Amino acid sequence: MAAEQGGAGLHPDTLAVGHGYDPADAWGSAKPPIVLTSTFVYASAQAAKDFHRAFFDGATEAEHGGPIPDGFVYSRLGHPNLSMVEKRIAALDRAGDTAAFNSGMAAISTVALAFLRPGDSMVYSRPIYSGTDNLLNTVLPGFGVHVEGVIDACDEAEIRAAAEAARARGPVALFMMESPANPTAAIVDIAMVRRVADEIGVRQGRRPLVSVDNTFLGPLLQNPIEHGADLAVTSLTKYCGGHSDLLAGSVSGPADLIGRLKALRMILGNHMEPFTAWLMLRSLESLAVRTERACANAIAVAGFLRGHPKVAQVTYLGFLPEGTPARAVYERQCAGAGSTFSFALHGGEAEAFRFLDQLKLLKLAVSLGGSETLICHPATTTHYSIPRERREASGITGGTMRLSVGLEHPADLIAEMTRGLDAV
Ligand SMILES: Cc1ncc(COP(=O)(O)O)c(C=O)c1O
Repeated sequence: MAAEQGGAGLHPDTLAVGHGYDPADAWGSAKPPIVLTSTFVYASAQAAKDFHRAFFDGATEAEHGGPIPDGFVYSRLGHPNLSMVEKRIAALDRAGDTAAFNSGMAAISTVALAFLRPGDSMVYSRPIYSGTDNLLNTVLPGFGVHVEGVIDACDEAEIRAAAEAARARGPVALFMMESPANPTAAIVDIAMVRRVADEIGVRQGRRPLVSVDNTFLGPLLQNPIEHGADLAVTSLTKYCGGHSDLLAGSVSGPADLIGRLKALRMILGNHMEPFTAWLMLRSLESLAVRTERACANAIAVAGFLRGHPKVAQVTYLGFLPEGTPARAVYERQCAGAGSTFSFALHGGEAEAFRFLDQLKLLKLAVSLGGSETLICHPATTTHYSIPRERREASGITGGTMRLSVGLEHPADLIAEMTRGLDAV
């Protein structure tokens, strides 16, 4: 069965439907049960000892002297729904393993805590989700980590300059990138970042890890690991969850790195709990069709906005100008433009607010990737906590609005936006 074979040879759409769950493990139940328990009963005292030795010492089968007992001890260490969801996401991310968390920020914070030490430095792409920005610029400096940002992460000279500035302050341990970026859809050349990381690794004797937040596109439209990232990070709250009714996150990568995250997660207690994991399995089943429909709707809505005289700018990935480095990276790295992008009207905050206050079908709310279309004003909401100067330098202005196009009929979305624009 595919679940036992790591899904080799199957299409992502197929893996998203059933990978990671075998009905034989649950009385033949066609769909996975939710295993709501905090603790698990051992078969015997010796089995308990064997399990703990294998779990905590990481003993291989040879060291262990036989097959490592498969099972669960306590839900903070692991539970059946968590294992199912991790197998499925690892297959979609084409990674050795996945660690699933109780939010995207839990995933990102655990990466920082696992792979950074006092005295290290790191590089990040700007703009970056405000929670990540706050972690990097307000929390990590307090732990002795130096942080450098890069705005055009398709420009090798700029990436190198940021990496050199970081290295002058301490060994570079991590490139934490987000591509496409929230909310501007700025794109990062992952292969180029990896090349720079490799070179720095040779010079400093320790290769910086490359982590890429893939939330804006999700595993079906971009595979960061294929392009050189060590870690693919996703806020599953968004497209993978897909219905704006849960919070979750994941990190995929090689088994040794993910093992370090799982060990830390066990201490922090920030794992994904059973009901969320079950909801996630269910949501992933429709990820391919939701992605297809949302992308098609976004093409229609972005095209409408671009052609409207009151709209000054649309940062939809599909509109990246031919012949630019970003366009070349987009074509090499992404299988589609996704359905979240930003746009601005002529004017600024006042015009944006007048437009937003006309909308009813499009919900004025933060978050993205749900079945419903959401719109927000990042400078005063999602990215409010980032100092204005840093925000504006990375392209988020008073006029910027972020739109996450959902699954409604595009004609209804366009009709409502037309009414809103008429009122500005
Ligand atoms: C790109 C990106 N990464 C991470 C996060 C954080 O995810 P969560 O809200 O699940 O903690 C968000 C949230 O909006 C995001 O947009």
